[in-house]
Formats: sequence, C-alpha cells, structure tokens
Amino acid sequence: MNNRFALDIGSANLIASSKSDTPVICEPSVIAVNRRTGNILAVGQEASGADMADAQNTVLMRPFRNGLMANCDITYRVMADMLKRSFGRELRGARLLLSIPCDLDEIGESVLIELALKTGVKTCHLIYSPLAAMASEFISPFSSCLLADIGAVRTNVMLLTKGKIRYLRAANVGGESFDAAIIDYLLQKYKMQINRRQAEQIKMKIGTVYNDGVTAFQRLAVNGKNIVTGEIMQLTLDASDMYEAFEEPMAGILEAICLAITKIPPSDQFEVLKNGISLCGGGALLHGMSMMIEGITGYPTATVDSPQEATAIGMARIQDWLPTQIPAGIRNISAYYIENFLPVK
Ligand SMILES: Nc1ncnc2c1ncn2[C@@H]1O[C@H](COP(=O)(O)OP(=O)(O)OP(=O)(O)O)[C@@H](O)[C@H]1O
Ligand SMILES: [Mg+2]
Repeated sequence: MNNRFALDIGSANLIASSKSDTPVICEPSVIAVNRRTGNILAVGQEASGADMADAQNTVLMRPFRNGLMANCDITYRVMADMLKRSFGRELRGARLLLSIPCDLDEIGESVLIELALKTGVKTCHLIYSPLAAMASEFISPFSSCLLADIGAVRTNVMLLTKGKIRYLRAANVGGESFDAAIIDYLLQKYKMQINRRQAEQIKMKIGTVYNDGVTAFQRLAVNGKNIVTGEIMQLTLDASDMYEAFEEPMAGILEAICLAITKIPPSDQFEVLKNGISLCGGGALLHGMSMMIEGITGYPTATVDSPQEATAIGMARIQDWLPTQIPAGIRNISAYYIENFLPVK
C-alpha cells in the first residue's frame, strides 16, 4: 500500500499528518520573502522567527488568506516544503489528502490538486475541513449534525443529514476577528493602541464570550500607546471588556450557524437536535464558545478534542479507512467518504 499523508492548509497554521494520532508537523502559515527579488527565503517556523522578521529586505507573508491561494507559485512551494520536511523521500508515490474550505469552487480544486501533484505525490484528493475533523473523534459521517470549523479567518459550516451534505458555507469570521475586535475596542474606548500579537495574547489569557462565573473575575494588565499623547499607558482589562469587544465577531459566528440551522429539513430536525453541533478549529478554543452557541441555538454543542489539530488527525484516519483505489474522477472525496464509510474503530 502506498504511503498515505495529509496536509491541513490553514490561514494561520499548516499541519501535516500521517498515521499517528499526533500531527507530524504543525507550523505557522508564514513565508519570508526577499522584498527585491521575490524569492522565498523560509517557510513556516523558520520564517516566523525573530531573525527573519528583523532581516533587511525581508517581508513576512501569509500564503493563504480566506482559504484562497495568494499565488500559485507560493502555494506550491509552501506545500512542497512542508511535505518534504514532514515525509522526506516517502512522499514520492504517496497518496495525499488536503483540507479545503467549504466554498472552494471546482477551478480552485483542480488548481490545488495540480500543484500538489507537482510535489511528487502519486494522487491527491480533497476533503472539507469540518468533515475531516469529525473523523478525529470517530463521529460517523452518517449522523445528522451540524459542524463548524472556527479557524483563524473563516468559519466553515457544514450540515449533514442522513449521510448527505445538505449545506456548506464559509463565513469571513474567525479567531483573528476577535484579535481585531480587541484592538478596535481599546482604540475606541481608551484611545490605546496595541499590536495584533498582544491582542491574541489578551484573547488567550482572559478572552471569553460567555459568563460562566469562572472567568468573570479574571483581570489582565495591558500596556499600550496612548494615541492622543503618544505616551505608554497601562490598563487593567476584565471579562466585561471581553464581552463588549467580542460582540460583533461572536454575532458573525452565531449568524453563520443559525443560517445553517434554518436549512435543516423538518424531517431531520429531531436527529440534528439530538446529535447537536460539533466545533473544531483553533477559534473554538476561545473560552465560552460552545456554551454561547448552545445557549443561543438551543442545540447541544461540544468542541472536539484538540480542535486545532482535529482536521489533520481526522484526515490521517480517513486515509486509513478509505479503500486503496478511489474511483478516477473523484477529486473532492467528501461525499465518497461518507458513502463508503465503514465504522471501524
Ligand atoms: N486557547 C485559545 N483561545 C482562543 N483562541 C485560540 C486559542 N488557541 C488558538 N486560538 C486561535 O485559533 C486561531 C487559529 O485556528 P486554526 O489553526 O484552526 O486556523 P487555520 O486553520 O489556520 O485558519 P483557517 O481555517 O481560517 O484558514 C487563531 O486565531 C488563534 O488565535
Ligand atoms: Mg482551518
């Protein structure tokens, strides 16, 4: 049997996986490019290091934005670099599975596969990211349920009923929308300027979208620049600041999920209500996310284990489950995987 590998291409993270339950490599989705020549100097972890950020004539870029490729050449080189470092010579002749957002069109699919085949793999197939994440928890794709992958810049929502994909949508809201919301909130309310990295740290330390009584008393001192005086200032933030700051991005995620709920056929309402909503993606790690979604929708909501790696882990599992021969002409295996799923644990 050929080697079977998988790569989860995200706007913030690139995660390669093979058979095991632990991803082979997880690196930031960043490249360092020479400003004058346009040459790629480093990919992933190496590119995000302080040396690269400080180097003259070097600009750091995110190769994937909104699930789309910024540039074919860059996409190819990032994939080739990640796959080569993860799997080395075993890559040649391997079967590769790539995650895709729920709204990638057929042209995008063919381009992605063409680029992947250039890396030396024998075949390449695609799967919707939330569907793959489900497999990380051995959730049967026959179960009628709603899936939401809250990534860095997008929330991919998928509705499954009786083994059929009923609805797919990718909304432009994700973990980074919450970082941006903190920056805007501090600027508007306190005239304080902070950078994106600080905003992400605040979100991870005291960020919350739901008052469960535990985080309500957490406080964090934050330093920033007063945009009126130019002086350094300090503020102490708490959960109430977070609720206020996060109102808009949280509404965006709820809207994407509620829209999917309106698409549930009446005959499947009961089943979906029973199985509920599964969350994955790093954005699902924000405190209170599942409780907030459950509270607003009334659907039981749970976050999968290791939500950030779930798509990569699930893809590795699906690679093992799928038959050796996938019929020619199937590029996106999402429907094929559901139809051919054998519940092996
Ligand atoms: N503990 C945490 N609390 C809150 N947010 C978190 C936490 N850990 C990670 N995140 C957020 O998760 C996001 C990254 O998630 P993920 O790796 O799923 O994105 P991605 O797959 O690269 O992006 P996309 O799917 O949008 O292309 C970031 O915005 C990050 O800040
Ligand atoms: Mg993702």
